[in-house]
Amino acid sequence: MDNPLSNAGRRDRSVTVRRILKVNHAGEFGAIRIYGAQIWMARRLFPDIIPALREMRDDEIKHCRLFRDAMPSRKARPCRVMAFWSLGGYLLGFLTALGGRNMVWICTEAVESTVHRHLEDQLAFLEAGDSELHGLIASIQEEELAHLREAEKNQTARGMSHTLLLPVVAALTDLMIWLSTWGDSSWMRAEMARSKQT
Ligand SMILES: [Fe+2]
Ligand SMILES: [Fe+2]
Repeated sequence: MDNPLSNAGRRDRSVTVRRILKVNHAGEFGAIRIYGAQIWMARRLFPDIIPALREMRDDEIKHCRLFRDAMPSRKARPCRVMAFWSLGGYLLGFLTALGGRNMVWICTEAVESTVHRHLEDQLAFLEAGDSELHGLIASIQEEELAHLREAEKNQTARGMSHTLLLPVVAALTDLMIWLSTWGDSSWMRAEMARSKQT
């Protein structure tokens, strides 16, 4: 059992690295499912956005594989509740697509901006350690940022639905990440804030 507080209360960095890989791999899988459900719905309701959604899903498939490939050498294993990510992602994609193309882009904006923030924390954590993983995450983060820009660009209106849906989807994404990292995501955030102060 991973115990991050081994060595007389000091956190074991390798445990956190394993948690980072686990949550990133699972998160990419969830993203594949979100886009998959949205593509399925878009085919019936608004086919014009399919090419953009497909392109982003292809990126998520590649990210998922890259995180999976980085696991064995770091003794990390995929999340045991992948079905949870799968169902959660699918439901989120399906429900937002029901609300129309603008809702699809609001969902993408919320998920991608939350992911971007978490990757930022991970990069700060990995800077002093695993440079290979740092490089991988930095390159993936660039593509996630492109997804975020695409979502912002495609929104035709930013009314009530944006105000209401964005924080809900962002909070759900945050919660999934927090649960999957056993709270390490907030610990990394605090660590980063502390290192900025010094
Ligand atoms: Fe991704
Ligand atoms: Fe993405």
